[in-house]
Amino acid sequence: MNTSPLSVFSQSTVRKSPSTEGLCCSSWRSPANIAIIKYWGKRPGQIPANPSLSMTLSNACTTNTVMAASANLPSLLINGDIKHPFHHKLNIFLEWMKQEIPALEGLTFHVETTNSFPHSTGIASSASGISAFTLCLLEIASQLTDVRLSTEELLALASYASRVGSGSACRSLYGGFTIWGASSLVAGSSDHFALPVNDMVHPDLADLRDAILVVSSKPKSIASSYGHQLMKEHPYERCRITQAGNNFSQAMLALQSGDLDLLGKISENEALSLHSLIMTSPGGDILFEPGSIAVIKKVKQFRSGGLPIFFTLDAGPNVHLLYPNNAKVQVENFIRQELMPLCEEGTIIFDHRGSGPLRLSQSSR
Ligand code: DP6
Repeated sequence: MNTSPLSVFSQSTVRKSPSTEGLCCSSWRSPANIAIIKYWGKRPGQIPANPSLSMTLSNACTTNTVMAASANLPSLLINGDIKHPFHHKLNIFLEWMKQEIPALEGLTFHVETTNSFPHSTGIASSASGISAFTLCLLEIASQLTDVRLSTEELLALASYASRVGSGSACRSLYGGFTIWGASSLVAGSSDHFALPVNDMVHPDLADLRDAILVVSSKPKSIASSYGHQLMKEHPYERCRITQAGNNFSQAMLALQSGDLDLLGKISENEALSLHSLIMTSPGGDILFEPGSIAVIKKVKQFRSGGLPIFFTLDAGPNVHLLYPNNAKVQVENFIRQELMPLCEEGTIIFDHRGSGPLRLSQSSR
Protein backbone atom coordinates (compact mmCIF):
# COMPACT_ATOMS: atom_id res chain seq x y z
CA MET A 1 0.00 0.00 0.00
CA ASN A 2 1.70 3.21 -1.17
CA THR A 3 -0.58 5.93 0.15
CA SER A 4 -1.76 5.79 3.72
CA PRO A 5 -5.58 5.81 3.94
CA LEU A 6 -5.10 8.34 6.75
CA SER A 7 -3.97 10.86 4.13
CA VAL A 8 -7.65 11.89 3.84
CA PHE A 9 -6.89 13.95 6.94
CA SER A 10 -3.81 15.67 5.52
CA GLN A 11 -5.76 16.62 2.41
CA SER A 12 -8.34 18.34 4.60
CA THR A 13 -7.49 22.02 5.09
CA VAL A 14 -9.78 22.90 7.97
CA ARG A 15 -8.37 22.86 11.51
CA LYS A 16 -10.98 24.07 13.94
CA SER A 17 -10.49 24.82 17.60
CA PRO A 18 -9.91 23.50 20.29
CA SER A 19 -8.61 26.91 21.19
CA THR A 20 -7.01 27.15 24.63
CA GLU A 21 -10.21 26.41 26.44
CA GLY A 22 -11.82 24.30 23.73
CA LEU A 23 -12.34 20.56 24.12
CA CYS A 24 -13.12 17.68 21.78
CA CYS A 25 -14.21 14.41 23.24
CA SER A 26 -14.91 10.90 22.04
CA SER A 27 -15.75 7.73 23.94
CA TRP A 28 -15.71 4.14 22.69
CA ARG A 29 -15.93 0.68 24.17
CA SER A 30 -13.91 -1.91 22.28
CA PRO A 31 -13.65 -5.65 22.88
CA ALA A 32 -10.66 -7.95 23.28
CA ASN A 33 -10.32 -10.81 20.82
CA ILE A 34 -9.05 -14.34 21.19
CA ALA A 35 -6.67 -15.51 18.49
CA ILE A 36 -7.32 -18.99 17.14
CA ILE A 37 -4.42 -18.68 14.69
CA LYS A 38 -1.77 -16.64 16.50
CA TYR A 39 0.06 -13.65 15.13
CA TRP A 40 3.58 -14.29 16.36
CA GLY A 41 6.48 -12.59 14.65
CA LYS A 42 6.41 -9.53 12.45
CA ARG A 43 8.27 -7.74 9.68
CA PRO A 44 9.16 -4.02 9.54
CA GLY A 45 6.17 -1.73 9.17
CA GLN A 46 4.12 -3.86 11.60
CA ILE A 47 3.49 -6.51 8.95
CA PRO A 48 2.57 -9.91 10.42
CA ALA A 49 4.81 -12.89 9.69
CA ASN A 50 1.66 -14.99 9.08
CA PRO A 51 -2.09 -14.50 8.69
CA SER A 52 -4.03 -14.75 11.95
CA LEU A 53 -7.65 -15.50 12.79
CA SER A 54 -9.55 -14.41 15.88
CA MET A 55 -12.95 -14.25 17.46
CA THR A 56 -13.98 -10.89 18.85
CA LEU A 57 -15.31 -11.06 22.39
CA SER A 58 -18.00 -9.06 24.14
CA ASN A 59 -17.60 -8.80 27.92
CA ALA A 60 -13.78 -8.53 27.98
CA CYS A 61 -13.45 -4.95 26.82
CA THR A 62 -11.87 -1.56 27.36
CA THR A 63 -13.75 1.70 27.64
CA ASN A 64 -11.80 4.78 26.56
CA THR A 65 -12.80 8.39 26.75
CA VAL A 66 -10.34 10.72 25.08
CA MET A 67 -10.49 14.47 25.55
CA ALA A 68 -8.31 16.72 23.43
CA ALA A 69 -7.51 20.27 24.40
CA SER A 70 -4.99 22.90 23.38
CA ALA A 71 -3.31 23.17 26.73
CA ASN A 72 0.24 23.45 27.86
CA LEU A 73 0.29 20.06 29.60
CA PRO A 74 2.09 16.75 28.87
CA SER A 75 0.72 15.51 25.55
CA LEU A 76 -0.74 12.31 27.06
CA LEU A 77 -2.26 11.64 30.45
CA ILE A 78 -3.85 8.25 31.15
CA ASN A 79 -6.23 8.30 34.08
CA GLY A 80 -4.40 11.47 35.11
CA ASP A 81 -1.12 9.53 35.27
CA ILE A 82 1.93 9.80 33.02
CA LYS A 83 3.29 6.59 34.56
CA HIS A 84 0.33 4.37 33.66
CA PRO A 85 1.57 0.91 32.46
CA PHE A 86 0.15 1.60 29.00
CA HIS A 87 1.67 5.09 28.72
CA HIS A 88 4.73 4.09 26.70
CA LYS A 89 2.83 2.06 24.11
CA LEU A 90 0.05 4.62 23.72
CA ASN A 91 2.49 7.52 23.50
CA ILE A 92 4.54 5.93 20.71
CA PHE A 93 1.32 5.28 18.84
CA LEU A 94 0.03 8.81 19.47
CA GLU A 95 3.22 10.28 18.02
CA TRP A 96 2.73 8.15 14.90
CA MET A 97 -0.91 9.27 14.62
CA LYS A 98 0.18 12.92 14.88
CA GLN A 99 2.56 12.42 11.96
CA GLU A 100 -0.25 10.90 9.92
CA ILE A 101 -2.92 13.39 11.01
CA PRO A 102 -1.49 16.91 11.35
CA ALA A 103 -4.72 18.17 12.99
CA LEU A 104 -3.73 16.22 16.13
CA GLU A 105 -0.43 18.09 16.53
CA GLY A 106 0.01 20.40 19.48
CA LEU A 107 -2.89 19.02 21.51
CA THR A 108 -2.99 17.47 24.94
CA PHE A 109 -4.89 14.19 25.23
CA HIS A 110 -6.52 13.05 28.45
CA VAL A 111 -7.45 9.38 28.32
CA GLU A 112 -9.82 7.86 30.84
CA THR A 113 -9.56 4.10 30.47
CA THR A 114 -11.13 1.16 32.25
CA ASN A 115 -10.74 -2.54 31.52
CA SER A 116 -13.31 -5.14 32.42
CA PHE A 117 -10.38 -7.55 33.06
CA PRO A 118 -6.79 -7.42 34.39
CA HIS A 119 -4.37 -5.91 31.85
CA SER A 120 -1.01 -7.38 30.67
CA THR A 121 -2.05 -10.93 31.52
CA GLY A 122 -2.52 -12.24 28.01
CA ILE A 123 -6.17 -11.22 27.68
CA ALA A 124 -5.37 -8.97 24.72
CA SER A 125 -5.73 -5.76 26.68
CA SER A 126 -3.66 -3.96 24.08
CA ALA A 127 -6.13 -5.12 21.39
CA SER A 128 -9.14 -3.63 23.16
CA GLY A 129 -7.26 -0.60 24.54
CA ILE A 130 -5.53 0.42 21.32
CA SER A 131 -8.60 -0.18 19.15
CA ALA A 132 -10.74 1.99 21.46
CA PHE A 133 -8.04 4.70 21.60
CA THR A 134 -7.73 4.72 17.80
CA LEU A 135 -11.46 5.13 17.30
CA CYS A 136 -11.48 8.06 19.74
CA LEU A 137 -8.50 9.75 18.05
CA LEU A 138 -9.99 9.35 14.58
CA GLU A 139 -13.29 10.74 15.73
CA ILE A 140 -11.53 13.73 17.31
CA ALA A 141 -9.55 14.22 14.09
CA SER A 142 -12.81 14.21 12.19
CA GLN A 143 -14.30 16.79 14.57
CA LEU A 144 -11.26 19.03 14.00
CA THR A 145 -11.35 18.81 10.22
CA ASP A 146 -13.90 18.66 7.45
CA VAL A 147 -13.41 14.89 7.04
CA ARG A 148 -16.73 13.12 7.52
CA LEU A 149 -16.60 9.33 7.81
CA SER A 150 -19.35 6.75 7.74
CA THR A 151 -19.12 4.15 10.53
CA GLU A 152 -17.87 1.64 7.98
CA GLU A 153 -15.11 4.01 6.83
CA LEU A 154 -14.20 4.87 10.42
CA LEU A 155 -13.83 1.19 11.36
CA ALA A 156 -11.73 0.45 8.26
CA LEU A 157 -9.42 3.41 8.98
CA ALA A 158 -9.23 2.42 12.65
CA SER A 159 -8.26 -1.13 11.70
CA TYR A 160 -5.50 0.20 9.44
CA ALA A 161 -4.19 2.62 12.08
CA SER A 162 -4.57 0.52 15.23
CA ARG A 163 -2.44 -2.21 13.66
CA VAL A 164 0.51 0.14 14.05
CA GLY A 165 -0.25 0.60 17.77
CA SER A 166 -0.68 -3.12 18.38
CA GLY A 167 -1.11 -5.73 15.68
CA SER A 168 -3.87 -7.73 17.35
CA ALA A 169 -5.88 -4.50 17.86
CA CYS A 170 -6.75 -4.30 14.16
CA ARG A 171 -8.89 -7.45 14.51
CA SER A 172 -10.97 -5.99 17.37
CA LEU A 173 -12.63 -3.44 15.09
CA TYR A 174 -15.05 -6.04 13.78
CA GLY A 175 -17.43 -8.43 15.45
CA GLY A 176 -17.36 -12.19 15.05
CA PHE A 177 -14.49 -13.88 13.23
CA THR A 178 -11.80 -11.66 11.78
CA ILE A 179 -8.58 -12.28 9.91
CA TRP A 180 -5.48 -10.14 9.56
CA GLY A 181 -2.75 -10.86 7.03
CA ALA A 182 -2.74 -11.40 3.29
CA SER A 183 -3.90 -14.87 2.32
CA SER A 184 -4.73 -16.24 -1.11
CA LEU A 185 -7.65 -18.05 0.57
CA VAL A 186 -9.57 -14.86 1.39
CA ALA A 187 -10.19 -12.21 -1.25
CA GLY A 188 -9.50 -8.70 0.04
CA SER A 189 -7.33 -9.86 2.95
CA SER A 190 -4.37 -7.63 3.73
CA ASP A 191 -1.28 -7.27 5.89
CA HIS A 192 -2.39 -3.69 6.62
CA PHE A 193 -5.83 -4.14 8.12
CA ALA A 194 -8.21 -6.81 9.33
CA LEU A 195 -11.19 -8.21 7.51
CA PRO A 196 -14.33 -9.74 9.02
CA VAL A 197 -15.02 -13.20 7.57
CA ASN A 198 -18.41 -13.92 9.11
CA ASP A 199 -19.98 -14.58 5.72
CA MET A 200 -17.65 -17.60 5.46
CA VAL A 201 -18.63 -19.01 8.87
CA HIS A 202 -21.01 -21.97 9.18
CA PRO A 203 -24.11 -21.17 11.30
CA ASP A 204 -23.14 -23.95 13.77
CA LEU A 205 -20.16 -21.86 14.85
CA ALA A 206 -22.08 -18.61 15.09
CA ASP A 207 -22.66 -18.87 18.82
CA LEU A 208 -19.26 -19.93 20.12
CA ARG A 209 -18.57 -19.08 23.76
CA ASP A 210 -15.28 -18.33 25.52
CA ALA A 211 -14.75 -18.69 29.26
CA ILE A 212 -11.56 -16.86 30.27
CA LEU A 213 -9.99 -18.51 33.29
CA VAL A 214 -7.82 -16.02 35.13
CA VAL A 215 -5.18 -18.32 36.56
CA SER A 216 -2.98 -15.34 37.43
CA SER A 217 -3.54 -11.61 37.15
CA LYS A 218 0.15 -10.78 37.61
CA PRO A 219 1.61 -8.86 34.64
CA LYS A 220 3.37 -11.35 32.37
CA SER A 221 7.15 -11.51 32.20
CA ILE A 222 7.41 -11.22 28.39
CA ALA A 223 5.44 -8.49 26.62
CA SER A 224 4.06 -9.66 23.28
CA SER A 225 6.01 -6.94 21.43
CA TYR A 226 9.25 -8.39 22.80
CA GLY A 227 8.11 -11.93 22.00
CA HIS A 228 7.56 -10.94 18.36
CA GLN A 229 11.11 -9.60 18.20
CA LEU A 230 12.49 -12.86 19.57
CA MET A 231 11.00 -14.67 16.58
CA LYS A 232 13.50 -12.92 14.29
CA GLU A 233 16.37 -14.96 15.68
CA HIS A 234 14.34 -18.02 16.54
CA PRO A 235 15.72 -21.33 15.22
CA TYR A 236 12.16 -22.42 14.31
CA GLU A 237 11.13 -19.19 12.57
CA ARG A 238 10.64 -20.67 9.08
CA CYS A 239 8.83 -23.73 10.45
CA ARG A 240 6.49 -21.51 12.42
CA ILE A 241 5.52 -19.51 9.35
CA THR A 242 4.79 -22.73 7.46
CA GLN A 243 2.87 -24.21 10.39
CA ALA A 244 0.79 -21.04 10.87
CA GLY A 245 -0.07 -20.97 7.15
CA ASN A 246 -1.21 -24.61 7.24
CA ASN A 247 -3.19 -24.11 10.45
CA PHE A 248 -4.78 -20.99 8.97
CA SER A 249 -5.97 -22.90 5.87
CA GLN A 250 -7.35 -25.74 8.01
CA ALA A 251 -9.08 -23.31 10.37
CA MET A 252 -10.75 -21.51 7.46
CA LEU A 253 -12.02 -24.86 6.17
CA ALA A 254 -13.27 -25.76 9.65
CA LEU A 255 -15.10 -22.42 9.93
CA GLN A 256 -16.74 -22.94 6.56
CA SER A 257 -17.82 -26.51 7.23
CA GLY A 258 -18.82 -25.91 10.87
CA ASP A 259 -16.27 -28.44 12.10
CA LEU A 260 -15.81 -27.38 15.73
CA ASP A 261 -13.71 -30.42 16.52
CA LEU A 262 -11.15 -29.44 13.87
CA LEU A 263 -11.24 -25.75 14.82
CA GLY A 264 -10.75 -26.64 18.48
CA LYS A 265 -7.84 -28.99 17.81
CA ILE A 266 -6.14 -26.29 15.72
CA SER A 267 -6.68 -23.69 18.43
CA GLU A 268 -5.03 -26.01 20.98
CA ASN A 269 -2.14 -26.72 18.62
CA GLU A 270 -1.65 -22.99 18.09
CA ALA A 271 -1.62 -22.27 21.83
CA LEU A 272 0.87 -25.02 22.64
CA SER A 273 3.02 -24.03 19.65
CA LEU A 274 3.04 -20.37 20.76
CA HIS A 275 4.17 -21.33 24.25
CA SER A 276 6.76 -23.75 22.87
CA LEU A 277 8.14 -20.95 20.71
CA ILE A 278 8.32 -18.69 23.75
CA MET A 279 10.09 -21.40 25.77
CA THR A 280 12.62 -22.08 22.99
CA SER A 281 13.27 -18.41 22.13
CA PRO A 282 16.76 -17.12 22.87
CA GLY A 283 16.64 -16.47 26.63
CA GLY A 284 13.29 -18.28 26.66
CA ASP A 285 10.73 -18.14 29.40
CA ILE A 286 7.76 -20.12 30.71
CA LEU A 287 4.50 -18.19 30.79
CA PHE A 288 2.37 -21.08 32.02
CA GLU A 289 1.55 -21.20 35.70
CA PRO A 290 0.95 -24.60 37.34
CA GLY A 291 -2.78 -23.73 37.23
CA SER A 292 -2.65 -23.30 33.43
CA ILE A 293 -1.37 -26.86 33.00
CA ALA A 294 -3.84 -28.26 35.53
CA VAL A 295 -6.70 -26.61 33.59
CA ILE A 296 -5.46 -27.99 30.25
CA LYS A 297 -5.24 -31.54 31.66
CA LYS A 298 -8.72 -31.39 33.15
CA VAL A 299 -10.17 -30.04 29.91
CA LYS A 300 -8.68 -32.92 27.92
CA GLN A 301 -10.02 -35.43 30.45
CA PHE A 302 -13.49 -33.88 30.40
CA ARG A 303 -13.59 -33.81 26.61
CA SER A 304 -12.91 -37.52 26.46
CA GLY A 305 -16.33 -37.85 28.11
CA GLY A 306 -17.86 -36.46 24.91
CA LEU A 307 -18.46 -32.78 25.50
CA PRO A 308 -17.07 -30.19 23.05
CA ILE A 309 -14.64 -27.93 24.88
CA PHE A 310 -11.26 -26.70 23.65
CA PHE A 311 -8.56 -24.52 25.13
CA THR A 312 -6.35 -21.79 23.84
CA LEU A 313 -3.96 -19.30 25.46
CA ASP A 314 -2.36 -16.11 24.28
CA ALA A 315 1.07 -15.10 25.56
CA GLY A 316 0.20 -15.46 29.23
CA PRO A 317 -0.96 -18.02 31.80
CA ASN A 318 -4.70 -17.52 31.46
CA VAL A 319 -6.73 -20.11 29.63
CA HIS A 320 -9.58 -19.47 27.20
CA LEU A 321 -12.10 -22.26 26.85
CA LEU A 322 -14.11 -22.42 23.65
CA TYR A 323 -17.45 -24.29 23.52
CA PRO A 324 -20.74 -24.03 21.64
CA ASN A 325 -23.83 -22.48 23.15
CA ASN A 326 -25.73 -25.77 22.98
CA ALA A 327 -23.30 -27.31 25.50
CA LYS A 328 -23.30 -24.22 27.76
CA VAL A 329 -25.05 -25.75 30.77
CA GLN A 330 -22.91 -28.90 31.07
CA VAL A 331 -19.64 -27.14 30.21
CA GLU A 332 -20.21 -24.26 32.61
CA ASN A 333 -21.14 -26.67 35.40
CA PHE A 334 -17.84 -28.45 34.81
CA ILE A 335 -15.96 -25.12 34.74
CA ARG A 336 -17.55 -23.95 38.00
CA GLN A 337 -17.02 -27.24 39.83
CA GLU A 338 -13.63 -28.35 38.55
CA LEU A 339 -11.80 -25.32 37.19
CA MET A 340 -12.92 -22.36 39.25
CA PRO A 341 -10.83 -23.50 42.25
CA LEU A 342 -7.73 -23.31 40.00
CA CYS A 343 -8.37 -19.64 39.18
CA GLU A 344 -7.10 -16.65 41.11
CA GLU A 345 -9.89 -15.72 43.52
CA GLY A 346 -12.13 -17.92 41.36
CA THR A 347 -12.03 -15.28 38.59
CA ILE A 348 -13.62 -16.35 35.31
CA ILE A 349 -14.96 -14.07 32.59
CA PHE A 350 -17.79 -15.86 30.82
CA ASP A 351 -17.73 -14.37 27.37
CA HIS A 352 -18.96 -15.08 23.86
CA ARG A 353 -18.63 -14.01 20.26
CA GLY A 354 -19.28 -10.27 20.26
CA SER A 355 -20.35 -7.67 17.77
CA GLY A 356 -17.43 -5.23 17.81
CA PRO A 357 -16.82 -1.73 19.19
CA LEU A 358 -19.54 0.54 20.45
CA ARG A 359 -19.56 4.33 20.28
CA LEU A 360 -20.56 5.71 23.67
CA SER A 361 -20.48 9.44 22.97
CA GLN A 362 -18.77 12.23 21.11
CA SER A 363 -18.86 15.98 21.48
CA SER A 364 -16.92 19.09 20.55
CA ARG A 365 -17.11 22.71 21.54
C1 DP6 B 1 -0.03 -13.98 21.33
O1 DP6 B 1 -0.74 -7.51 19.16
O2 DP6 B 1 0.05 -7.67 21.54
O3 DP6 B 1 -1.82 -12.43 21.48
O4 DP6 B 1 1.76 -5.85 17.72
O5 DP6 B 1 3.63 -5.95 19.32
O6 DP6 B 1 1.45 -4.97 20.05
P1 DP6 B 1 2.16 -5.99 19.16
O7 DP6 B 1 1.72 -7.42 19.68
P2 DP6 B 1 0.30 -7.97 20.11
O8 DP6 B 1 0.55 -9.53 19.93
C2 DP6 B 1 -0.47 -10.45 20.17
C3 DP6 B 1 0.10 -11.81 20.19
C4 DP6 B 1 -0.84 -12.90 20.60
C5 DP6 B 1 -1.48 -13.59 19.41
C6 DP6 B 1 -2.57 -12.84 18.71
O9 DP6 B 1 -3.34 -12.10 19.34
O10 DP6 B 1 -2.70 -13.06 17.50
